[in-house]
Amino acid sequence: MNSDTYATPVLAWYDAHRRRLPWRAEPGQAVDPYVVWLSEIMLQQTTVATVQPRFAAFLARWSTVSDLAAASLDQVLVEWQGLGYYARARNLHRCAEVVHNEYGGRFPMEVDQLRQLPGIGAYTAKAIAAIAFNQPVLPVDTNVERIVARLFAIDAPLPGGKALIAARAAGLADPHRPGDFAQALMDLGASTCQPRQPACHNCPLEVVCEAADVGPELFPVRAAKRPRPLRTGTVFWLENPHGEVLLRRRPDSGLLGGMTEFPSTAWEERANASVEQLASAAPLPSEWTATAGQVDHTFTHFQLTLRVVRGVSQADPPADAFWVHPDAFADHALPTVMKKVARHVLAQP
Ligand code: ADE
Repeated sequence: MNSDTYATPVLAWYDAHRRRLPWRAEPGQAVDPYVVWLSEIMLQQTTVATVQPRFAAFLARWSTVSDLAAASLDQVLVEWQGLGYYARARNLHRCAEVVHNEYGGRFPMEVDQLRQLPGIGAYTAKAIAAIAFNQPVLPVDTNVERIVARLFAIDAPLPGGKALIAARAAGLADPHRPGDFAQALMDLGASTCQPRQPACHNCPLEVVCEAADVGPELFPVRAAKRPRPLRTGTVFWLENPHGEVLLRRRPDSGLLGGMTEFPSTAWEERANASVEQLASAAPLPSEWTATAGQVDHTFTHFQLTLRVVRGVSQADPPADAFWVHPDAFADHALPTVMKKVARHVLAQP
């Protein structure tokens, strides 16, 4: 079977059923590599539905990569709010600077060059190369992985089986319309070849799919998952006499890097700190009173439970911290977990 066995029916299906997405060029329309790059970065770990409104706002504010390079990191972080994984926003900004400064504002076309840019991994480099520059490569995300695992009934369990699936996927890339082929598989994965109850009768690959008869839902096979570890921490909600609350900036690297937070103890896999330990971790001295209840949040790699204690101080804030009135929280890049903390405290009697 040559690649036409798969590409011809898939591309015909795409021509008839393609999704209209704000970052997707219409047939015959020129593709803007900036738009493709921006959408691919936003779509990393985030759903199409979440990205759509944020993408429109971003593009309206920064319509070229050079405009984005000229923005401040803080402006970008604020506009990024809700998309999560803030390292991505920082890399987005750095990448815009590199493309503006080193490539004259034009994205490079080759996978290897794209791969060198901040925030662009193997998948994203291939997605941009295929969609923006028609390079004959196939980006493999979880959707494409599922389609390929089913198409060839690959039963090596994930994550180990990924390499095998990727190797079979590489042979599928369409040399004539690689961008459309990649986007077609994304659409198939989102519509007919879904994880549960795939609609095989609507699928252009049904007749060649090796899993169609044995049970597509059996693929891809997954190794048993380990449960997310539990971490706990204590957040210090400190108010001054003007009703302002102490915030601080997280370190640039690591989880929620560069975002703003209410000071807290480290988030660790052990029971919450004692009162004495608490005092040494507090940003300023105060009497601390526990609030009722707790704040729960799920991160990719752990589950977090935060206890929140309240205090009052009129001291000068430490170097990395500053006072902000709750009415002005929206001007700061507070991650979702910290927004939950604010809602938790502001809802207390
Ligand atoms: N997921 C990642 N990239 C995408 C794209 N270009 N279109 C739709 N879904 C995607």
